[in-house]
Amino acid sequence: MTPLEDLLIRRITATGPMTLHDYMAECLLHPEHGYYTTRQPFGVAGDFTTAPEISQMFGELLGLCLAQAWLDQGSPAPFTLAELGPGRGTLMADILRATRGVPGFHDAAQIWLIEASPVLRATQRTTLGGHPAHWADQVDTLPELPLFLIANEFFDALPIRQFRRATDGWEETMVGVSDGKLTLGRSPALPVPALAHRLTDTRPGQIVEICPAAPSIIQSIALRLTKGLALMIDYGGWQSLGDTVQALARHQTVPITESPGQADITAHVDFQALVPPGLAHRYTTQGALLAALGIAQRAERLARNLTGAALENHLAATRRLTGATEMGTLFKALALFPPNAMPPAGFPDA
Ligand SMILES: C[S@@+](CC[C@H](N)C(=O)[O-])C[C@H]1O[C@@H](n2cnc3c(N)ncnc32)[C@H](O)[C@@H]1O
Repeated sequence: MTPLEDLLIRRITATGPMTLHDYMAECLLHPEHGYYTTRQPFGVAGDFTTAPEISQMFGELLGLCLAQAWLDQGSPAPFTLAELGPGRGTLMADILRATRGVPGFHDAAQIWLIEASPVLRATQRTTLGGHPAHWADQVDTLPELPLFLIANEFFDALPIRQFRRATDGWEETMVGVSDGKLTLGRSPALPVPALAHRLTDTRPGQIVEICPAAPSIIQSIALRLTKGLALMIDYGGWQSLGDTVQALARHQTVPITESPGQADITAHVDFQALVPPGLAHRYTTQGALLAALGIAQRAERLARNLTGAALENHLAATRRLTGATEMGTLFKALALFPPNAMPPAGFPDA
């Protein structure tokens, strides 16, 4: 039994079942036993591999997309260059390397990393070398400056509430205790105002998920996007439907009530819920975006200096980022930008 499992079983036994949302929050960010607060989950030796860890091309192409938008919007200075949930810091390091040659971009950029984990903050500091950067817990503490922001696999790491449609209400997924073990169950059906609009497009028995933290994060981003661009890349779809919560440990899925604090727990992102009123948006797949930004040309350029296993790895990484049966279709990209700005490079017209 993990220390967090023991703690949660005692809490639930004393006070009753907890929502899946609260369970996920404890598993991921409990100050002593949380998954992100205590460990380095990335890479072959960890639990999962993210796009920036697969290839430098991911960060390079998205960095140039941000820099092009900055140029298109009149090179505002100073501006905030922010990342949400930077993991090991690899994506920001690749963005900074790729944009070194964009005149004025680095001088005008104030780098902010929004990171909850002290362990990962230390890793990010090392990855960025001497590059000056600020860290914060929340998006609402970012300076009120034009904002160029990226978030890769951040929203999927935020706790969700999960509901099953009853006739005219919703049963919420709860975590309880049975025979001394954590188990999943459901609350009685209740009205949920945040899901009133989903009564028209769902049937009894169907499952939907909502991310309670997302609206205020998006609101804080939107307030700063009088100039700028926010790029969100994640797995998910346009509208939540179905049970998408999964736990991953050492690259294998495990039951979500097993090993709390020692497995990553994620849910697919509902991209429609990330589009605020008053901003323009574009939405596409990761594969289509990287193709439109020129990954084939960049891959070919990098391949010229490689042979043997290094070349094989590079070609496999390119396929993994863009392939329809790999990350290319499952992962989506959303761009938010001011309605009067030029749409960002790589996204198809709305
Ligand atoms: C799946 S990792 C993605 C890492 C990185 N973006 C990448 O692509 O490699 C999620 C990141 O979000 C951070 N994170 C999770 N919940 C957070 C929260 N509520 N506030 C800030 N950071 C959070 C984690 O510590 C981790 O750095």
